[in-house]
Parts: sequence; structure tokens; C-alpha cells
Amino acid sequence: MKKIAVLTSGGDAPGMNAAIRAVVRYGIGMGLEVMGVERGLQGLIDDLFIPMNMRSVSDIIHRGGTILKTARCPEFKEEAGQQKAIKNLRARGVEGIIVIGGDGSFMGAKALTDRGFPSIGIPGTIDNDLAYTDYTLGFDTACNTILDAINKIRDTMSSHERVSIVEVMGRNCGDLALYTGLCGGAEVIVVPEHPLSVDQILENLTGGAANGKTSGIIVLAEGAGSADVLKKELTARSDLVFKSTRLGHVQRGGSPSCRDRYLGTCFGVRAVELLKQGIGNRIVGIKNHKFYDMDIVEGIAMKKEFDLELYQKAMIVGR
Ligand code: ADP
Ligand code: F6P
Repeated sequence: MKKIAVLTSGGDAPGMNAAIRAVVRYGIGMGLEVMGVERGLQGLIDDLFIPMNMRSVSDIIHRGGTILKTARCPEFKEEAGQQKAIKNLRARGVEGIIVIGGDGSFMGAKALTDRGFPSIGIPGTIDNDLAYTDYTLGFDTACNTILDAINKIRDTMSSHERVSIVEVMGRNCGDLALYTGLCGGAEVIVVPEHPLSVDQILENLTGGAANGKTSGIIVLAEGAGSADVLKKELTARSDLVFKSTRLGHVQRGGSPSCRDRYLGTCFGVRAVELLKQGIGNRIVGIKNHKFYDMDIVEGIAMKKEFDLELYQKAMIVGR
């Protein structure tokens, strides 16, 4: 393989720039030509290729977001969009592509693979919702951003003796809520994988109050409901004062953590190594502290397992 391309797709995640930087610099170091594609899979259809050199990726390792921009592209789910993309890739002489994104973007990469175009996926999403890898790019930074917010909210909750419901992102995955709830000392963590009734939430809270607590934090995963709705339901059943905060897109921004820069760099290097050997149709990940790659079809099909044991421990130590 002589020429490869890289793009970012779906929701952005801190660490994507570190991965782009690694792909470009390691790719050039291995004697490859590297093209960047702007606006994700949409950019493949719209022919938004830009040649990259060593200096194209200077001064980006510490920046959140993605210098290549990202997009969601419904047209790519259709055969016509995928054919247009492959036509543009071939016209540019590109022989393999690296797609940095979440499970949706991996479906796009798989579609290219199915049509005979070699692709490699790098897991980039704050949601940590991919089963085949222990961590996705951006998850660690998002956790730290959420923790910073929880710390600040806790200061005012304890001063006023209130309970705050903090709604965090994650789509259908409770990992962001689990890890930030555990590390932020939340009294209750509510996740889609282990639904709790309003009464059960209150029981956990009042159990804490019986132990002398007069304020608290409930971390609520967006996939398990909305903070505003839960606030109304809890207020109707309790004398405690509840406040709700939806953290929103602040969770997706910011300078990537050390871990996300490390993951981005190592994922990027591995993806290039695969393409350089002419290997496509793989996704790279990390399992038990070891970087590895696996078949894209098998990886997409795997079902994420929620760490129920950790969740149960977090609920006990939070009381
Ligand atoms: P993420 O990659 O973060 O999960 P999305 O789920 O929004 O983000 O998916 C990103 C893009 O991936 C979609 O806008 C679409 O272009 C592409 N995609 C998603 N599902 C498919 C599919 N089944 N076939 C082809 N492309 C898809
Ligand atoms: O997949 C990443 C994510 O941030 C989810 O956690 C969230 O539900 C979604 O994207 C938000 O998407 P948008 O930026 O389009 O509102």
C-alpha cells in the first residue's frame, strides 16, 4: 500500500487529534502518502481530501475536538453513497482508510470493507460502548471533565443541604455514569443496564441520610432517563430538595488526558502498521493493557457487558 486516508466520524472525542497526528506522522515515516478527509464519511462522498504532511499535524496533540471535523452522514447508509465514496477514494489513488469513530462509524467502515475497500477502525467515542475494547478514545478525558463538574456541584450541594441529579452522556451505555459516580463519591448511580425505580433511588438516598448525610449526588446516565424528569418524580415523593444539572456537550470537549493521548497515539500507529502490511477489515483496541486488533465484523457483533460487580460496590461505598 502506498497511499492511505484518515477521517473522524460521529461524535467527536478528545484524543482524536492525537490519533490523526500518529497516523500522519507514522504513515509518512513508513513511506506512505497520507490524505486527510474532512467531515467524516460525508467528506468521502463530497471528495473533501487534503494532502497531509508532518507539519499538518503540528500543535494538535493537546487539543480537543478533531482538526478534520466530523459529521453524521445518513447518505452513507445507502449503497449509492458508499459507491460514490469508493469511486472518490480510488480516483485519488487511496488504497486503504482509517476510520476514527464509534460503532456507527464502524458500520460505515464495514460497508467499505464489504465493497472490497480495506478499512481499519480506531475506537473514538466518549461513550466507551464498544465491547471488543476495554477503553475508547475520549472516555478518560470525559470522565475527568465530569468529575470536575461533580466536585463543584458537591461543594454547593453540601453547603445548601440539597441533592443534585447530574445527567451524563453515554447513549445506551452506563460506563460514564458508573466510573464518574464511583470516583465522584455519588450516593446513587442510575444506569440503563440496571434500572432502579424511583423508590429504590430514594431508599439509597435516605439510607445515606440515616447515616448522617444531608446532601448528595445522583449520577444519572442519559440512557436511563432525564435529570429534569427524575427531579420532579423525587420531589413528589420526598422532603429533600433536589436540583438537576444536564452536563451536555462540555463532556465532549477539552484537552485530552495523558491516557487519551497515549491511546490515540498507539491506536494510530497500529492502524498504520496494519494497512502498511496490506491488512484491512480490522479494528484496533486495548484489552488487559495490551494493544491488539480483531476482525471488524466480529468486533461489531460483540455485545458490551456492563460491570455489574463494580456497580454494586460503587452503590455500597457511596452510601
Ligand atoms: P458513532 O460513530 O459515534 O457511533 P453515529 O452512530 O452517529 O456515530 O454514526 C456515524 C456515521 O456512521 C453515521 O452518520 C453514518 O454515516 C455511518 N453509519 C452508521 N450506521 C451505518 C450503517 N449501518 N451503514 C453504513 N454507515 C453507517
Ligand atoms: O456518542 C457520543 C455522544 O456524545 C453521546 O454520548 C450523546 O448521546 C450524543 O453523542 C450527542 O450527540 P449530539 O452531539 O449530536 O447531540
